[in-house]
Amino acid sequence: HQLRTPLAGLQAHTELALAKPLPPEVRAELEQVHQATIRTGRLANQLLALARAEPGARGSAAEVNLKALAESEADGWVHQALARDVDLGFELDWSPVQGDAFLLREALANLVHNAIEYSQRGGHVTVRTGRANGHAFLEVEDDGPGIPPTERERVLERFYRVPGTAGTGSGLGLAIVREIAAGHGASIAITDGAAAKGCRVAITFPHG
Ligand SMILES: Nc1ncnc2c1ncn2[C@@H]1O[C@H](COP(=O)(O)OP(=O)(O)OP(=O)(O)O)[C@@H](O)[C@H]1O
Ligand SMILES: [Mg+2]
Repeated sequence: HQLRTPLAGLQAHTELALAKPLPPEVRAELEQVHQATIRTGRLANQLLALARAEPGARGSAAEVNLKALAESEADGWVHQALARDVDLGFELDWSPVQGDAFLLREALANLVHNAIEYSQRGGHVTVRTGRANGHAFLEVEDDGPGIPPTERERVLERFYRVPGTAGTGSGLGLAIVREIAAGHGASIAITDGAAAKGCRVAITFPHG
């Protein structure tokens, strides 16, 4: 909060200033400030999510249906996908887990964000929830550039990004996902997507 409130204020005031008539060179500078504010806001959110996912900070477990959780976030994700010309699809089945709904939503959101962010225009992303062999799972698959097998361990580390990755992320998303999976006794698998293309990240829970 102490971090997010002033950042939200900074962003709002920058937007108000940008809505006014400005000399072009001032506008260009202010656009830079605006972009940096948005990036800093995302970084603050990622750091808070990581702190909340750490042992000791986790809330109590309740029954969470991953299908309902994905459905409740779908609208926002569809907007993100449209903005990047990515086709976002859902294959959602009942998927009951014992866990922290806030953290599980955070994990899923980070996987969807990555799949959309790293897909090329016209790419496809599929979000799945369900049960297989008595285990609840969630997974996000895309047909983008994928993560080379030699990088699949390292991308789970804090602040690590595959060299050459575009965009302005800070390398925290998958570290958050790993922390949240560990807190739920779940395992993460990063594999190729369908047809050996793209990337699939699956989280499998110990029950369901
Ligand atoms: N779906 C994906 N396709 C291709 N590369 C990916 C994908 N997801 C993650 N990566 C690679 O793994 C790296 C780490 O991802 P992670 O989500 O942890 O951090 P980030 O996206 O760079 O930053 P942040 O999530 O904190 O904004 C990315 O920088 C990218 O190199
Ligand atoms: Mg990310």
